[in-house]
Amino acid sequence: MSEHLTVVDHPLVQHKLTLMRDKGTSTAGFRQLLREITLLLAYEVTREMPLTTRHIETPMEEMDAPILSGKKLALVSILRAGNGMLDGVLELIPSARVGFVGLYRDEETLEPVQYYFKAPEGLKDRLVIAVDPMLATGNSSAAAIDLLKEAGATDIRFLCLLASPEGVARMKEAHSDVKIVTAALDRELNSKGYIMPGLGDAGDRMFGTK
Ligand code: URA
Repeated sequence: MSEHLTVVDHPLVQHKLTLMRDKGTSTAGFRQLLREITLLLAYEVTREMPLTTRHIETPMEEMDAPILSGKKLALVSILRAGNGMLDGVLELIPSARVGFVGLYRDEETLEPVQYYFKAPEGLKDRLVIAVDPMLATGNSSAAAIDLLKEAGATDIRFLCLLASPEGVARMKEAHSDVKIVTAALDRELNSKGYIMPGLGDAGDRMFGTK
């Protein structure tokens, strides 16, 4: 664990993650667990949101009570698996604006290529939370963050379910200012770029495409 990486070791998170890793878990179960675990991870990724105080009256007396200072938030899904994490965050922060980044890997250059980008206005004034369940090689995550920065974002967090040591290192090298929150840091990537022990292809498992 470092300044750059937070692994959420809460028992509820770890329990749900184990159920998600299990290959016997159904598509419906996987999707429901992803929504629930994302809500718990969202609690951690928003930990540093700025507070101010509001003067209120409780039934007993007056007080200056903490309240969010109103910094706007943008939630950005890295397609397609990031979409499975939107509902969990939106349940906690219903007013968040939502953007999407779509990238594919060019088979010749192996570089990520953008095919879709739509972000809320005023990114520079928002806390931006980019979501993608699997931080694997880190190449597409780093490219997605490049695009968000080009669009003006300056305060970015990356929220994922599983991270590989290689992906964390790649992100740290490319974007040392972007803090990562994850439920687990797994052992390694295999030769095909899958996280080990991992949970397989997150998109296929949540959308039932395999
Ligand atoms: N993407 C996935 O869905 N799973 C992995 O293990 C790596 C990347």
